[in-house]
Amino acid sequence: MITATIVPTMPKENSQSNGTSEIAVPHMSAEEFRSAGHDAVDFLVNFIDGFRTDSPDLPLTSDLAPGDVYASLPSSPPMKGEPFEAILADVERLIVPGLTNWQHPGFYGFFPADSSPPSVLGELVSAGLGQQGMLWSTSPACTELETLVLDWLAEAVGLPDRFRSDGPGGGVIQDSASSSSLCAILAARDRAGGAESLPTLRIYTSEQAHSSIEKDVLVAGFARHQLRVVKTDDDFAMDANALASLVDADVAEGHVPCLVVATVGTTSSGAIDPVSSICDVAGPVGAWVHVDSAWAGAATVCPEHRDLLDGIDRVDSYCFNPHKWLLTNFDLSAFYLADVQPLIDSLSIVPEYLRNTASEAGAVVDYRDWQVPLGRRFRAMKLWFVMRSYGVEGLRAHIRTHVAAAADLAARVEANPKLELAAPLSLGLVCLRHLDGDDATEALLASVNSSGRAFCTHTRLAERFVMRVAVGGTWTTSNHTTDLADLLDDLA
Ligand SMILES: Cc1ncc(COP(=O)(O)O)c(C=O)c1O
Repeated sequence: MITATIVPTMPKENSQSNGTSEIAVPHMSAEEFRSAGHDAVDFLVNFIDGFRTDSPDLPLTSDLAPGDVYASLPSSPPMKGEPFEAILADVERLIVPGLTNWQHPGFYGFFPADSSPPSVLGELVSAGLGQQGMLWSTSPACTELETLVLDWLAEAVGLPDRFRSDGPGGGVIQDSASSSSLCAILAARDRAGGAESLPTLRIYTSEQAHSSIEKDVLVAGFARHQLRVVKTDDDFAMDANALASLVDADVAEGHVPCLVVATVGTTSSGAIDPVSSICDVAGPVGAWVHVDSAWAGAATVCPEHRDLLDGIDRVDSYCFNPHKWLLTNFDLSAFYLADVQPLIDSLSIVPEYLRNTASEAGAVVDYRDWQVPLGRRFRAMKLWFVMRSYGVEGLRAHIRTHVAAAADLAARVEANPKLELAAPLSLGLVCLRHLDGDDATEALLASVNSSGRAFCTHTRLAERFVMRVAVGGTWTTSNHTTDLADLLDDLA
C-alpha cells in the first residue's frame, strides 16, 4: 500500500525578480489526476467493450482522407494548459474516427496485435512508475521482473532450459521482432570476426523470410549480396538442401557462413522452416542459427503445438512476439539466447557516467547491453499482468479458440467450389484465392473489406495474389469467422 501524502499543486502566478510574470508548473493535483484517470479508464472500458460483441458499432477502418486528422487539430500547441476533459473529448471526437480498429473482432489483417485489459493496465502502471531500466542499478525491480517473467514465459511456451536465466542463456524484451533479429545478427556477425571479417561473411534466410531480416542485415553493415536467399519448397518452407548447396558453394569460395535465420510461421503463409535440418547444415560450418517465430511462437503455449519447436534446443537464439497473439499490447518481443555473452560482447560500451558498483561487481544483469538503445521501458510489467491475469490455461484457451475457428473457416473455403486454399492452413492463418484468378481474388478481398464486416490483407505466393485471413484478435470468436465464411460464400 502506498501511503505517501500528496500535496496538490495549484497553478499560481509568480512574480520573477527580473520583472517577468510566469505561471507555476500546472501539474494536475492528486484529485485531478484521480478523476482524469477514472475518466480515461472509463473511456477505454467503453471503447474496448464495444468490440466484445458480434457486431461492433465502430468501423474496422477509417473513412477519413489523408490529411483529415492533421487538419482537424490546431496547427500550434496551446500556450496554456487545457482541462483533461477537453483532451479526452478530442480523442473521442478527432482521433477515434481516424483509427484502424485492430481490436475489432472482424480484423484479420496482417497479423493480430492483441491488446487486453490487464495488458493495458500493466502499461498504465509501468508508465506511472516512471522507471528507466537501462541498468540493474537504475531500476532493480524493472530488471529482475523482466528476468523472471521471461523465465515464466519460456516455461509457458515450452522453450528448452538453455534459454532460461539460470545458465549462460536468458531472455530479454525488445520492442519488436525486427530488433530481436537485429541483435541476433550483430552477435553472430561479431562472433564470426566482426568488422575485420565483414566482407567474407554470409547470412542465409529463405525467400519467405520477413522483410525485417533484410533490413536488419543492411543495418548491421552488410552489403545486400551478403544475404543469401534460400529457395522454399512447395509449402513455402526453407529447402534445407538448397541451403546446404548455397553454404557449400560459399565455403568453397572462401566465404564464412555466419548466420542462418529460420522462420517458424512465415508472414505470408505461416510456413514452418525445418529448424533441425537447418541446424544440420549450420552446425558443421559454425554458423549461428536464429529462429524468427514472431507470430507463431505464441501457439506453443499449447502443448499440442510444441512440434513447432522441433530443433529449437540446437539454435542460438529465438524470438516471438507476445504483442502479436498473446494478449500483450504492442510493444513486446521476447528474445532468447542460449548464450548471452556474444550479444553483450557486441553491444557493451561502458562510459564513465554509467559505471556503478553493482555492474562492476558482475553480480547483476544490465539489459542495456542486450539491445541497441540505452534506455528501456518497464515492459515486463504488462506481460506479468497478462500472465497472472489469464494464467497459462487462459492463454491456451485464447490460442485454441482461434486455431479451431481458423480450421472451420478453412473447411468452409475448401467446401466452396469457387475458392481454394492457397497454402496449407497454419494455426490461425488461412490463405485463400478465387479459382478465377488474381483479379477475382483481388475483387473478393475488396468486397470483403468494403462490407464493413471483416478486414483482411493480401500477399503473393508463387506469384499469385492471395487473400490472408489471420484469425487471432482478442475478441474474435468462431461467431465472427463463421460470419466471414458466410460473407465469402455470398461474395465469391
Ligand atoms: C515472421 C515475422 N517476423 C518479423 C515480423 C516483424 O515484427 P515486428 O513488427 O515485431 O518487428 C513479422 C511481422 O509480422 C513477422 O511476421
